Amino acid sequence: MSEPDRYAVVGHPIRHSRSPLIHGMFARQAGDRLSYDLIDAEPDAFETVVREFFAAGGKGLNVTVPHKRAAYQLAERIGQEAALAQAVNTLSLEHDAIRGDNTDGIGFMRDLTVNLRQSVSGKCVLILGAGGAARGIVAPLLGGGPAELWLANRTLERAHDLRQAFLGLGEIVVSSFEDLDQLPPFDIVINATSAGLTGVQPTFPGNLVDSGSFCYDLVYGAEDTPFVAWARAHGAGQAEQGWGMLVEQAAESYLIWRGHRPDTSAVLATLAT
Ligand code: ATR
Repeated sequence: MSEPDRYAVVGHPIRHSRSPLIHGMFARQAGDRLSYDLIDAEPDAFETVVREFFAAGGKGLNVTVPHKRAAYQLAERIGQEAALAQAVNTLSLEHDAIRGDNTDGIGFMRDLTVNLRQSVSGKCVLILGAGGAARGIVAPLLGGGPAELWLANRTLERAHDLRQAFLGLGEIVVSSFEDLDQLPPFDIVINATSAGLTGVQPTFPGNLVDSGSFCYDLVYGAEDTPFVAWARAHGAGQAEQGWGMLVEQAAESYLIWRGHRPDTSAVLATLAT
């Protein structure tokens, strides 16, 4: 029998990644024979690791922190979403060329709109953060037709740069965290800062949320993330962390690699328990 098709996720650190578990469940569901490994690569080693993986017959890679930007620079062909986000989380081979895609935005939107049944259309939406994670979700959010899209960041200049990069797709109102303190509550508030990863919660003004607000943290963890805890403490109607986005972006990667999209609901239910 031939060897199973090889896939992996590359990051640093990578030990705690749930991607092998998720892709393993997808493969069992479809009866696909494949392996999915963890590859720990420091930034200096990233490019060599990727090239060697594909040269040795590997079929596809997921790319996670801190390599998404490097993967964008390395890829010889780029999907539309990756070009907008300037970040790549999925590598594949297309006619022997390394192709980079970004499935984070579509994964986020599927979790928000399908799993969690939130519509963006006509809503006032606030993104906290202006780094790579925020870049990945701006275009699909603008595509959802919000009444307003605000973006606040600790470093205001980065928020302005992001607004400038997406001007062709729609208007983004830019602000510091402090200048949000006079605004009425938002319908949807998304944490795209990486602050929660270190357990440190920036001081967001409490007036941003009320019982009508839906809060979403791109970060996820075994316990409530600091942002989810903050949202609950300030009376948000609903606060969710990003497990669904993790599963949905994985399903979109699987679709790129294997040509069929897994059923995510069973996998999500397993992860949530
Ligand atoms: P990622 O790819 O996870 O988005 P990144 O590009 O380094 O990582 O961006 C991190 C984001 O989290 C930025 O918006 C950053 O704010 P700055 O642009 O001001 O650096 C934000 N961030 C990280 N730690 C933070 C903290 N303690 N307080 C507020 N914002 C923080």
